[in-house]
Amino acid sequence: MTNFILVTGGAGYIGSHTCVELINSGYDPIIVDNFSNSERFVVDRIKEITGKQPILLEGDCGNVDWLIKVTKDYKINGCIHFAAYKAVGESAKEPLTYFENNIGSTISILKWMEATGCENLVFSSSCTVYGQPDKLPVTEKSPKKTAESPYGRTKQMCEDIIEDYYKSGKNIKALALRYFNPIGAHPSALIGELPLGVPNNLVPFITQTAAGIREKLIVFGNDYNTEDGTCIRDYIHVVDLAKAHVSAIQYLINKKENLVDYINVGTGTGNSVLDVIKTFEKVNKLQLNYSIGERRPGDVEKVYAEASYINKTLGWKASKSLDEALQDAWRWQKKLIN
Ligand code: NAD
Ligand code: WQD
Repeated sequence: MTNFILVTGGAGYIGSHTCVELINSGYDPIIVDNFSNSERFVVDRIKEITGKQPILLEGDCGNVDWLIKVTKDYKINGCIHFAAYKAVGESAKEPLTYFENNIGSTISILKWMEATGCENLVFSSSCTVYGQPDKLPVTEKSPKKTAESPYGRTKQMCEDIIEDYYKSGKNIKALALRYFNPIGAHPSALIGELPLGVPNNLVPFITQTAAGIREKLIVFGNDYNTEDGTCIRDYIHVVDLAKAHVSAIQYLINKKENLVDYINVGTGTGNSVLDVIKTFEKVNKLQLNYSIGERRPGDVEKVYAEASYINKTLGWKASKSLDEALQDAWRWQKKLIN
């Protein structure tokens, strides 16, 4: 029996790992991707890992008429909506592009759900909706603060749009998963993150520096109010995060009543930038060229999740360590340069 799940952005970093875990759990992912930030070979790699070729519908999920047409032959049980642009800095330079793609595609997915009768939605949200929280760890009840970037605001707005759709009485069961900082790669080193150009995020910058693609990593400030002065984040292995999506879709399929809910996906532990650098050096037995520089404007000092709600509702808990994530990230990077 087939059990189709529509995965928008399924060729991307988190989407591809989620397709692997969906297949491992008996689901049949249907990838919708326009490859604006991913590569076609990723779809074949999913098959290499799992033995099963996911269906690929190449196109823009913001085009609802197209989406309805190309999915009409499948009975789809749920949608995991990853497709979005995600570069925080770029979103400040091109806000309309971000609002158009991230909000437009979410509205399109809701229209698609209404048209096709698909009721289950998992939405990719972010800890960015909390801004700099007043209290740590961050619970799902922590207030949303006006996000620093247009990117962050698209996540807040999409959450509100989904909630308004639910409140209007439409049939929908939706979970917005608020990811903390996804890192690492599949242990097979067949899929991982593919940053375009100079990476903005810490771990790809570290691995590219270790690989000699970047000369030096700059630590953005060591004068924060933290133990070693560098910022604190909750780094979560992308395979753990992918598994949280499988638990989320399973939870929704089993629910009878309409619902909308928000769930943190993190480990519950905060690590500093220097912790990450030192752990990377230790587990991969190498030395990284880095120095301390200025603060990056807009950076939050400390943020990490209270991770008990996800454990209670979905029965999910992070199982992989920072050591494993940084080993997997490096294994993936080495494969990319060879
Ligand atoms: P990614 O860029 O690797 O993947 C996104 C995928 O969506 C890409 O394959 C891209 O080609 C595709 N895409 C974008 N717009 C599309 C459209 N209109 N139609 C079809 N395909 C489209 O990003 P990711 O890191 O895998 O992130 C996935 C989701 O998780 C995004 O919504 C992102 O905002 C969110 N998120 C990511 C992080 C992170 O640090 N990576 C953290 C929190 C939330
Ligand atoms: C982590 C830490 C930097 C690069 C971003 C988005 C957020 C979410 C996750 C999507 C920070 C420091 C980084 C470098 C450094 N994405 N750093 N030197 O900022 O927590 O979050 O990705 O929703 O919305 O804002 O992640 O990986 O960029 O930074 O010192 O070259 O590493 O200052 O403390 P961030 P990051």
